[in-house]
Amino acid sequence: MTLVATTRADLARLRADVVAGSAPGAVAVVMTMGALHAGHAELIRCARERAAVVIVTVFLNPLQFAPGEDLARYPQTFDSDLELCRSVGVDLVFAPTPDVVYPDDEPLVTVSAGPAGDRLEGASRPGHFDGVLTVVAKLLHLTSPDLAYFGQKDAQQLWLIARMVRDLDFGVEVVSVPTVRDESGLALSSRNSYLSEVDRSDALVLSAALRAGATHSDEGSSAVLAAAREVVDELPAVALDYVALVDPGTFSTVGDAYEGEAILVLAARVGRTRLIDNLTVSVSRKV
Ligand code: PAJ
Repeated sequence: MTLVATTRADLARLRADVVAGSAPGAVAVVMTMGALHAGHAELIRCARERAAVVIVTVFLNPLQFAPGEDLARYPQTFDSDLELCRSVGVDLVFAPTPDVVYPDDEPLVTVSAGPAGDRLEGASRPGHFDGVLTVVAKLLHLTSPDLAYFGQKDAQQLWLIARMVRDLDFGVEVVSVPTVRDESGLALSSRNSYLSEVDRSDALVLSAALRAGATHSDEGSSAVLAAAREVVDELPAVALDYVALVDPGTFSTVGDAYEGEAILVLAARVGRTRLIDNLTVSVSRKV
């Protein structure tokens, strides 16, 4: 049975009930902004495999959207979200309203993502990662999990959350889950629902660019980046925001001498929709 809590008091009571009623074991949380799809379901499935209790949070966090971004049109599909949670055996859904999460309106004290939060996604979306880390910190406190699952799809977010957990001693294990794609290669995202039919086929250029970059992985980082950029540039309908190769340990961009695992990250605007994607590549300089 999937229980639903919307207040802090309900969450505390129902969390205690499901923990007491289940076999001993870990409590896992999967945090989402709703509009659930097969990518979210995969996080939940991975959590279900390891944990005795799975909590899913559904909260469209205003703090991580800048004015002029898509908060107002972000898809909200709570009934089908709950249906999905039921079908994959979630124990407890926490779906608060903003006044429950932020009872004093905007918090005066927030988590700073630091310098890595100003790069790439952070450069295009100032303040975004402070908003993400602040809500993730709050939801970790409220749900008290042993395990917290996040998708590799949002690679910079995942890196920053893992770093926050380490830097600020949250005492939770961050588990990363590989990106789920549709059969055409498009990374699943709640924002894909904004795409027209034409946009959807244009959007394939993101994953195509990543694959093109990866085919040059033995020619050094510049060749990888040039190959990826070229694929996006061929399609004028898609405006590249950034493409970069980052060191998975530091999330800073790597130089041309770099060899080893790197994450090829990119962001682009397809019509009115901003999409991100990434792929891990093993960079060498054999030629
Ligand atoms: P949201 O975009 O709803 O994503 C929730 C979680 O699902 C994130 O960890 C994200 O990386 C993961 N996810 C999304 N699409 C995925 C895909 N195609 N494959 C694998 N995992 C995928 O990310 C957020 O919400 C918010 O920033 C949040 C962390 C909940 C804080 O508000």
